[in-house]
Amino acid sequence: MKRSRHVSTIMLAVLAQYLPISCAETYTYSPEQQRNANRSLSVGYIVFDGYAILDVFGPLQFLSDLSWPFDINLSIIAKAPGPIHSRPPLHHDSDGMAMDMSKMVDAQIIATHSFETAPPLDILVVPGGVGDMTLQQRNDRSIEDFIASRFNTTEYVLSVCTGAGFLARAGVLDGRRATATKASSGWNRATKHGTNVTWVPSARWVHDGKFWTSSGVSAGMDMMVAFLRHIYGDPKVNNSVNNVEYAPVVDPSWDPYSVVHKVSRPFECPRAP
Ligand SMILES: *[C@@H]1O[C@H](CO)[C@@H](O)[C@H](O)[C@H]1NC(C)=O
Ligand SMILES: *[C@@H]1O[C@H](CO)[C@@H](O)[C@H](O)[C@H]1NC(C)=O
Ligand SMILES: *[C@@H]1O[C@H](CO)[C@@H](O)[C@H](O)[C@H]1NC(C)=O
Ligand SMILES: *[C@@H]1O[C@H](CO)[C@@H](O)[C@H](O)[C@H]1NC(C)=O
Ligand SMILES: *[C@@H]1O[C@H](CO)[C@@H](O)[C@H](O)[C@H]1NC(C)=O
Repeated sequence: MKRSRHVSTIMLAVLAQYLPISCAETYTYSPEQQRNANRSLSVGYIVFDGYAILDVFGPLQFLSDLSWPFDINLSIIAKAPGPIHSRPPLHHDSDGMAMDMSKMVDAQIIATHSFETAPPLDILVVPGGVGDMTLQQRNDRSIEDFIASRFNTTEYVLSVCTGAGFLARAGVLDGRRATATKASSGWNRATKHGTNVTWVPSARWVHDGKFWTSSGVSAGMDMMVAFLRHIYGDPKVNNSVNNVEYAPVVDPSWDPYSVVHKVSRPFECPRAP
């Protein structure tokens, strides 16, 4: 009995080093966190056909959890209200080849607002996904126009994966540091836009002023956890992380995928000993 208690104490101490177990009795909230604690935050999530599923639903899990202790309103915003498809629409890839992805499974999300009816926003989240290619190839700038029209009045702007490309094309990243997915054509697609954007080739996410931009897909979850800690403080966010049973990356410079995808330096296969 005594021995097993001793063992579990050691196990907890080991776990606490890398899991967000909350043992702290006192936590000092920043003025920003104190201000956010008792106000309502209006969150707008942009979606489009061909959105990447986890870009949207990964961060939303944490936002949803935090809307229990805090006052958060969520609007899902698209060109028109109604179902939005994860299945990518027809587009041409970076080599100009026509891509018909109609055989792929389709997870839909319901847009609650159009760009015209969206309420005032405090937080704007822009996910990525290969649907951005279709929009560009159709010269559809409705997302960029919406971002540009709301940018001044939005306190925090977040992007996941190729979502940073929409921010760059909207012209709001000029003079900023940002990152995007490192995978396949996504990095080239996102980073060729914008003027005077410092694109960080090796970063899980980058925080610069009101901007939080993350690398590909799952990185959005790590960025959202870091962002929520920043605006609300650790205790409630760590509860959510523990309940989700997720071990987030807490170092924004951790980015093995920049090597895998040869963005920061060529990937070399490990040699047999
Ligand atoms: C919250 O979790 C992180 C690790 O994910 C840890 O560094 C931090 O100390 C935790 N904060 C509190 C108040 O427990
Ligand atoms: C926020 O509200 C709670 C109770 O609703 C109160 O205990 C706390 O002091 C308030 N914080 C600030 C910064 O006003
Ligand atoms: C959020 O929703 C609540 C009701 O659910 C409402 O009272 C509040 O005004 C809304 N806030 C914003 C910013 O839309
Ligand atoms: C945002 O603010 C900048 C600088 O004050 C201004 O030039 C621009 O017109 C504003 N944009 C909108 C859509 O209000
Ligand atoms: C580019 O952005 C940097 C800040 O990152 C700024 O210092 C510099 O003046 C900008 N240059 C131009 C030409 O806008």
